[in-house]
Amino acid sequence: MPTETTTILVNQFLSVHFDSVQRVLNTRTMSTDAAETPLTSVKEARRFMIDCLKAVDTPTEHAEAMADLLVEADYRGIFSHGMNRLGMYVNDVKAGACDAKAVPKILQETPATAWVDGQNGLGAVVGNFCMSLAIEKAKNVGVGWVCAKGSNHYGIAGMYSMMALERGLLGMSFTNTSPFMSPTRSKKAALGTNPLTLAAPGENGESFILDMATTTVAVGKIEMQKRKDEPIPHGWAQDSEGESTTDAFEAYDVGCLMPLGGREITSGYKGYGLGMLVEIFCGILSGSLYGPYIRKWGSTADVANLGQCFIAIDPKCFAPGFECRMSDLMNYLHNMEPADPSKPVLVAGDPEKAYKVLVDKAGGIRYIKNQLDTCLQLAKELNVVPLQHLQHTCDC
Ligand SMILES: NC(=O)c1ccc[n+]([C@@H]2O[C@H](COP(=O)([O-])OP(=O)(O)OC[C@H]3O[C@@H](n4cnc5c(N)ncnc54)[C@H](O)[C@@H]3O)[C@@H](O)[C@H]2O)c1
Repeated sequence: MPTETTTILVNQFLSVHFDSVQRVLNTRTMSTDAAETPLTSVKEARRFMIDCLKAVDTPTEHAEAMADLLVEADYRGIFSHGMNRLGMYVNDVKAGACDAKAVPKILQETPATAWVDGQNGLGAVVGNFCMSLAIEKAKNVGVGWVCAKGSNHYGIAGMYSMMALERGLLGMSFTNTSPFMSPTRSKKAALGTNPLTLAAPGENGESFILDMATTTVAVGKIEMQKRKDEPIPHGWAQDSEGESTTDAFEAYDVGCLMPLGGREITSGYKGYGLGMLVEIFCGILSGSLYGPYIRKWGSTADVANLGQCFIAIDPKCFAPGFECRMSDLMNYLHNMEPADPSKPVLVAGDPEKAYKVLVDKAGGIRYIKNQLDTCLQLAKELNVVPLQHLQHTCDC
């Protein structure tokens, strides 16, 4: 949940830029049919997620950790990693590919580092454990660097960097994932969409929260285009011949997303390099599976054995006034003259903070129809109370 100060700041920002921010958010997340669907409260979305996970024997505490992760994604407008992922996690647990009861254990430790075995537990359980450990170490010795093997898909990477942010620290996190990125010049995928995140505190609750895949987009964004039956832009994915495609179904089936930057001519090799950076911090450092050896996306035939990395840094160990300089820089950026007057300059994290305010103003999350249909089907399969909706409608 946003702090009171953050809400006030975001409200101030939105009072000036509401229309343009809403336009950005609509193109990123909302479907053309979204305005016709009912609203769902954040609390109810969380209840439904918990019930579904408990229906496949997930302990309550672990189901709550997963639901907090998923609902935060939807609340932030990252629909690719919220309710959209629930079925995948349920399937992993049901098939026994992931052990919902598992608790991570520390294999090796120094004052600043830890190597953790996630013991094939749920991604949020492993992620929360590791980032809490990194935070504790940063509070004690200035920096905490924790790597885990034996983990599962951990959702939005930003969830973990924000844990450090809440404690006044810089937070970073990385994960490897099933092969989906075609290295520059390749016709096949060998690395995952390998996200990275950095959260850094400014003054008065302000913050910078970069949370991004190292492919042009996360695979979940292609799933969302499929759900909406809409094309994808050029530069997101390749067809089977290695050419750019706009067909979301073909892109998903071929499974060759382009690295951030797209083709070689537009410096896609930099995204490829960043994907390798993430893989080195995750799979190579932790001894988990890595790159092409990770199971195919959506498969439950093998355990995932993902590698993840969590870093917390105490800015107080460096030059005094970190938060002040952060806010100064972000203010400068926000106040730059935009090329298009209707589109103000943003910093990373702004769209997601603004989306939370939109959800609060609307009174709930508006899922697209295809997503609601999937929820209904899941409720029937698992014999849980279907997702309930709010009655009133709103024009945002
Ligand atoms: N667990 C996994 O395996 C996995 C894999 C890939 C991605 N993901 C998650 O998917 C989510 C979406 O990733 P994505 O790369 O598609 O995100 P994105 O492209 O929507 O946003 C990336 C970043 O850019 C910032 N941003 C957006 N518009 C901006 C603007 N105009 N100016 C400045 N900054 C701006 C956002 O605040 C965000 O920090 C992330 O939460 C990521 O962690 C998870």
